[in-house]
Amino acid sequence: MTATIIDGKAFAANLRAQLAVEVASLTAKGQQPGLAVVLVGEDPASQVYVRNKAAQTLEVGMKSVEHKLPADTTQDALLKIVKDLNADPSIDGILVQLPLPAHIDTQTVLETIDPAKDVDGFHPMNVGKLATGLEALVSCTPLGCLMLLKDKLGSLAGLNAVVVGRSNIVGKPMAQLLLAESCTVTIAHSRTKDLPAVVRSADIVVAAVGRPEMVKGDWIKPGATVIDVGINRVPGKEPGKTKLVGDVDFATASAVAGAITPVPGGVGPMTIACLLHNTVTAAKRRRG
Ligand code: GUN
Repeated sequence: MTATIIDGKAFAANLRAQLAVEVASLTAKGQQPGLAVVLVGEDPASQVYVRNKAAQTLEVGMKSVEHKLPADTTQDALLKIVKDLNADPSIDGILVQLPLPAHIDTQTVLETIDPAKDVDGFHPMNVGKLATGLEALVSCTPLGCLMLLKDKLGSLAGLNAVVVGRSNIVGKPMAQLLLAESCTVTIAHSRTKDLPAVVRSADIVVAAVGRPEMVKGDWIKPGATVIDVGINRVPGKEPGKTKLVGDVDFATASAVAGAITPVPGGVGPMTIACLLHNTVTAAKRRRG
């Protein structure tokens, strides 16, 4: 079998086009959604993310605000900016880029963001709402994975889903979303016994472990749907060159799976599209 490739890039572009229509109608009512991104320090990967976020925010017609702060910014100064954004009626979404410098307590910062503007879905209030089935803002990457799965499979009810990885940002919220879709959910991780056998039981595999090409083709049940969240930079074939690979060994897995996301061009583009989606959702709830 050769898997169907799930085109996250095209799906994300389509989602952004739909959001642009919604943003235009909100703007016509004097309710243009606004997204604020706060970056502390000069981490190069974070700088690229933040640049892309700002460009795509403007592209769909939303207001974009950026706060770029030096690495030695104090926690109090950062909290003051977050509180000012909480109080700013033109701002619907607040994202503080992670990781933060070591002298800042990440959890304190995340808990200071107004849960109604927490478009990352990292505030314990939103985490708890997701777990209880209440209306939450949901972490962007798992939300994007769920959109791709539902687009591919329709109803997910009764399917066996194995999430490999238990992070707060991806693994745990992914498991909650799949449970809410009536999947039978297993969260596997580095201490799981006989991981290949566990993964082989899955109709849906979501790999989010951060280990390059760990999930092999012979771990995949024939016909399963494989969502690869990994973005790992590894040495390329030519000396001095690098390439991006996922957490799934694409060459062997795509020979067995029914459908699979590529890296790049799978889950990656969905994350920012879902951030914009969450900002529109927050704007409608706050202003509606
Ligand atoms: N750093 C890497 N990914 C993310 C994300 O989704 N949200 C935030 N706030 N920081 C990140």
